[in-house]
Amino acid sequence: MSPDDVPILVTCGLPYANGPCHIGHLRTYVPADIYVRGLRKMGLDVTFVCGSDSHGTPIVVNAEEQGTTPAELVTRYHDHFDEVFRNVEVIFDYFGNTDDPSNHARTRSIVKTLMENGYVYSQDIQLAYCPKCDRFLPDRYVEGICPYCGSPARGDECDQGCGRHLEPGEIKEPVCKSCGNRAEYRRQKHYFFRLSAFKNFLIDYLEDLGGTSNARNYAREWVKQELRDWCITRNLDWGVEFPGKEGLVVYVWVDAPIGYISFTEEWASIQGADWEDYWRRNARIVHFIGGDIVYHHCIFWPAMLEGAGYTLPSAVVASGMLKIDNKTFSKSRGYVVWVNEDYLARGLHPDLLRYYLASYTSHTKELNFSWTVFGEKVNNELVGALGNFINRSIIFTIKNFDGRVPQGDLDPAVTGKIETIIEDTAAALDEYEFKKAVDIAMSLADYGNGYFQANEPWKMIKTDRDGCGAVLRNCLQIVKALAVLLEPVMPGKMQSAWKQMGLEGRVGDALFRDGLVPLKVDQPLGTPEHLFNKMDKSAIKELDVIFRERISLLAESEKSETKEMGIISFEDFKTLDLRVGEVKEAENIKGSDRLLRLTVDLGTEDRQIVAGIAQTHRPEELLGSQIVVLANMEPAKLFGVESQGMLLAADLGDSAVLLRPETKVEPGTGIR
Ligand code: 2FM
Ligand code: ZN
Repeated sequence: MSPDDVPILVTCGLPYANGPCHIGHLRTYVPADIYVRGLRKMGLDVTFVCGSDSHGTPIVVNAEEQGTTPAELVTRYHDHFDEVFRNVEVIFDYFGNTDDPSNHARTRSIVKTLMENGYVYSQDIQLAYCPKCDRFLPDRYVEGICPYCGSPARGDECDQGCGRHLEPGEIKEPVCKSCGNRAEYRRQKHYFFRLSAFKNFLIDYLEDLGGTSNARNYAREWVKQELRDWCITRNLDWGVEFPGKEGLVVYVWVDAPIGYISFTEEWASIQGADWEDYWRRNARIVHFIGGDIVYHHCIFWPAMLEGAGYTLPSAVVASGMLKIDNKTFSKSRGYVVWVNEDYLARGLHPDLLRYYLASYTSHTKELNFSWTVFGEKVNNELVGALGNFINRSIIFTIKNFDGRVPQGDLDPAVTGKIETIIEDTAAALDEYEFKKAVDIAMSLADYGNGYFQANEPWKMIKTDRDGCGAVLRNCLQIVKALAVLLEPVMPGKMQSAWKQMGLEGRVGDALFRDGLVPLKVDQPLGTPEHLFNKMDKSAIKELDVIFRERISLLAESEKSETKEMGIISFEDFKTLDLRVGEVKEAENIKGSDRLLRLTVDLGTEDRQIVAGIAQTHRPEELLGSQIVVLANMEPAKLFGVESQGMLLAADLGDSAVLLRPETKVEPGTGIR
């Protein structure tokens, strides 16, 4: 229970079961796990749920491309995420799957309630339809042109241009992704969620929404603008069937967040708890999400919950962008770190990555990952400060005090410091300031090192054994507090520190305030070992080299693929300045029987162009005729004459057929 005595539920944005886990995922999940462990250390009872997001067209398209079924693909990645999360110590109380029967049932029930409450209406809309495949084309089954910015876009999103969400029927010049044929628009009845009816509710709701300011502020801006109703049905047979309408499933963004509810139900039925305590009554629901899905969680989702009579989330915590090696995260270009392949499989301990992700920068800021910084953080902060203090305290006690907690009073300055640090760490966690929390906790290690240095126990042991014992007792108390404070960040490593201290049970079960409970005098310590190992330069370099090799390999293969297939993006095409030109002068170039020198009117200017068409075209024939020119071709000198553009012609090897406009147009007219 939370201080205001309501149950607490923490969730993480559901990963699409459509590809392996990368550190972009962990940027959200690790802080969420730290938060949950931190709340538990404050004595609160927290339930932590997540699961696979298993529906939507990308999964169906991907399964088709891999020659498998969506169900098989989803199971494969569901198991993968489940395993990776355990391996990086992100421990959910329940990790479900939106394709589970309970989620189908809860989704249909919520949609029915929304219909009964008048928040769903049907409307005939134009939808892309492929005559060859004989089917309607939802979302990613259709590609075309964005109606807002003209960039190539997918059915539901202008992902290469303005980034807008596209509603069904909006995309221009639709092409079927399955067969490549031109699609047409046909009318069909679909269902819409009346989001527009929730404007005033959302304005009030966002006033009090907790979490990070990035989520709240964006949402407050959006809600001031027009809220468009959402089409919530799709022509697919993979998903949750829309109640009462065969052949239609609900849009994935309806049944995905409902997973938060159905996973709580599944967890509760195993635990003998009541899910309605979380979703029907007063509760504290905290959603951790990526910064790209704020709209869904702060606008769409609370409106749905309100419309169907469920408990509203109290906080939305959105993580900032992730960069890899200072470049925008990109799987296709290799700016990615796969959690299994690139990290765990190389024998790296998950806690080092957890520490990096939590302490690099604050949760809402841009986080950059690089192997060099990773190595520096491990060596300076974990080995140099934390590991060093823990190790020297334990080793010194083993060598000089028979491996038992020595006698001596706890110094009020030390216990006071521990107490303040515990309070400040907890306060920072409460504010979703994970970096601040880690830095505060780590400052206790610096304090400990300072205390050790200042007291010089290695000298004191020779002159004042009792005083030295007291110093060590204080040091060991600091170690205990550090283990408790840092367990949420580095659970595995802190468990090992706990054991080395000879403490019973699990540090995961200890509360923050247990860090202040005095160690028993004479309690035997465990076997010492280095908690963290220094990464030598060559090891870091090797990781970096592997990473860079993959990037250049991908760049090479992209280049050769582009060459082989002759495919360029629309963005690339737009860099070509193609225009209609009118020939004003034409003459042979001395010494060449292939080249002509032309002066071409390009509307805004005249250009000199050298063209290899002398064998097929006489200069006087060309005068006044219109041709097509690539105007931003790099200038080149041919037979000493500069060519400031290139003329386009069908290349027949030994002759050329000029490309011309069908009818005369203004010189300079652009070509698309
Ligand atoms: O953006 C995503 O990765 C989605 N799979 C997140 C869904 S979160 C929730 F709403 F279910
Ligand atoms: Zn666009």
